[in-house]
Amino acid sequence: MLSSSASSPVPCAVWWAAPALATPALLDILDTDERARHGRLRQSSDRDRYAVAHALARLLCAQESGCDPREVTFALHCGYCTRTDPHGKPRPTGPSEGLEISITHSGERVGVALSRGVPVGLDVEAIKPTRDLDGLADYALTAAERATLDARPEAERAAGFFSYWSRKEALLKATGAGLSGGLTSVAVNGPHEDAAVLHWDPPNAPAAVCLTDLDAGAGYRAALAALAPGPLALTVHDGAALLASH
Ligand SMILES: CC(C)(COP(=O)(O)OP(=O)(O)OC[C@H]1O[C@@H](n2cnc3c(N)ncnc32)[C@H](O)[C@@H]1OP(=O)(O)O)[C@@H](O)C(=O)NCCC(=O)NCCS
Ligand SMILES: [Zn+2]
Repeated sequence: MLSSSASSPVPCAVWWAAPALATPALLDILDTDERARHGRLRQSSDRDRYAVAHALARLLCAQESGCDPREVTFALHCGYCTRTDPHGKPRPTGPSEGLEISITHSGERVGVALSRGVPVGLDVEAIKPTRDLDGLADYALTAAERATLDARPEAERAAGFFSYWSRKEALLKATGAGLSGGLTSVAVNGPHEDAAVLHWDPPNAPAAVCLTDLDAGAGYRAALAALAPGPLALTVHDGAALLASH
């Protein structure tokens, strides 16, 4: 169970699953808005990632709160832009009020992080061969991060870049800012070192944060951030059985 006292480490669970586990039965758990969004996705691979991610998030919240997955509700909140349609970080409400989640999907990986009372951000990235790695690095990295990446051997550059990206996006997803928080507003250390936040520009810097890399398998980089001083009591799980049980 995800409960903690003020002095103990923050319990956080990360669950992984594969888009291939998508079934029509999982769509029954989703709410009307989620089913509509699922229906608007053109690529079947995107639909599968979405269905597995949102069904897994619901099953986990339901398991933790002792309710039916269909009873779980998510409020979408973005305090960082002027759009009026619901979007942004999902926060469990209703029977799952008090839980915090973060959803991520890329390639063959779907992940959900779950905590209680402590906002979390999870990001997984497939290491994609990218023609314009320099352009992406200019967009996402601070000058110091860029210099560190440029000093890495050529064969490690793409993986190093996605390591940076997953760490920075996990941090921005923990606060709920997402990319509108600005990837260069937060600086992390080099991909060859243990993940750590070096500095975070105001006004969006949280009072406390901890960051760790996760092993998402060959060809992927993943990171988890939590808005707490740490340490995290992290557990990692396979979501296949939970998804199949439905
Ligand atoms: C959504 C975002 C945070 C993550 O992007 P990504 O790496 O491409 O995708 P991931 O799979 O890791 O994460 C997607 C999930 O993050 C969650 N999410 C969306 N906005 C979020 C936010 N601001 N903070 C935290 N999580 C967010 C959602 O659960 C989403 O899953 P869904 O698309 O299945 O509903 C990033 O793309 C972003 O900030 N986009 C918004 C850009 C934009 O349109 N800005 C203007 C309006 S704010
Ligand atoms: Zn927004």
